[in-house]
Amino acid sequence: MSSAILELDVCCGRASSELGQKIAEELHKPLCNLEIKNFSDGEIWVKFGSNIRGTDLFIVQSTNPPAENLMELLIAIDAAKRASARRITAVIPYFGYARQDRKDQPRVSITAKLCANLITEAGADRVITMDLHAPQIQGFFDIPMDHIYSSIVFTKLLREINIENLVLSSTDVGGVKMARAYAHRLGAEFVIINKKRERANSSEVMNVIGNVDGKNVCVVDDLIDTGGSFVNAVTALKEKGAEKIYGACTHAVLSGNAHEKIENSFLEKLYVTDTIPLKQKNSKIEVVSVAKVIAEAISRTNQYKSISSLFDVDKDKI
Ligand code: R5P
Repeated sequence: MSSAILELDVCCGRASSELGQKIAEELHKPLCNLEIKNFSDGEIWVKFGSNIRGTDLFIVQSTNPPAENLMELLIAIDAAKRASARRITAVIPYFGYARQDRKDQPRVSITAKLCANLITEAGADRVITMDLHAPQIQGFFDIPMDHIYSSIVFTKLLREINIENLVLSSTDVGGVKMARAYAHRLGAEFVIINKKRERANSSEVMNVIGNVDGKNVCVVDDLIDTGGSFVNAVTALKEKGAEKIYGACTHAVLSGNAHEKIENSFLEKLYVTDTIPLKQKNSKIEVVSVAKVIAEAISRTNQYKSISSLFDVDKDKI
C-alpha cells in the first residue's frame, strides 16, 4: 500500500454510537452513513449508505457483551472490504473478552486470541484499542495494532481536581504498574493491594501494603465488571484509615449489581470513560470522554504520524 494520505472516513457501530459521534466531531467530519438493522430473528444487517471506495475507513465499535457487538463489528468490516475501502481500521475502545487471554486451566479457550483472529479474518488492516486488560494481547493480532491509553485524560483530570495529600492505589498486584505510573506523573506516593480471588467474578482483599492513614486515595484500574475488586479495595483502604477515596477506571463494564455496590461504597466519586456507555445513572459516577484521544490517534494513523509521542509523559497533547 502506498503512503499517500487517503481520504479519512469514520463510522461507528451501535455499541459506540455516542462516542463515535463525538470522535467524528473532534475530527470535524460527519460520521459516514452506516445503516444497521436487525432482522426479525435478531440477525444483523449492515450497509454503507454511500461510496467508501478507496477511503481510509475507521470503524468505531467496542466489543463488550452481548456478542452481537463483536458480530456487528465483523459484519461492518466485511461490508467495508467488499465495498472496496482502501484501508480498514477497527477502532475498539473496549476490547471485550480480553481477560480470557491464556489457558489458566485445562480445556478452556483463549477467547481473546479467537476475537483477534476473527477481526483480522473479517478484513481489518489495523486495530486501535484502549487500555487492554493485558498489554501483551497486542501480540494476538498479526496486523498493526496501536494500543492507546486513557491515562492522558485521567492525569489531566486529577491535576485539575488537585486532591491534597494524594496516594494512588491499584485494586490488586496486577495493577501496580498502572498505579505507579499515575503516582509518578502526579508526583504522589502509591500503595499496593494484595487481592486473592477465590473464583471468577468474586474477589477478596487481603492486604494494603503501604500507609494510607489520613490520606486521600485514588484507586485506578483498567475495568470494573462486577465491582467486587474495586469496592473491596475501597473498603480495605477505608479500614486502613484513608480519608476521601476516589476512583479512576477506563472501562465501566458494570455487570450484575455493580451500580448498587458503587452507590453504597465509601467512594466519593468514580471517574470512568465513555468506552462503554453507562446503562444507568449513578450518583457516584462521572464520565469523562476519551473521544479526543481516540480522534487524535485516528488522525495520526491517517497521516502516518507517530502515536506513541501522543503519550509522552508531562506533555499535554490533548
Ligand atoms: C483485575 O485483574 C482487573 O483489573 C479488574 O480489577 C477486574 O477484572 C474487575 O472485575 P470485578 O469488577 O468483577 O472484580
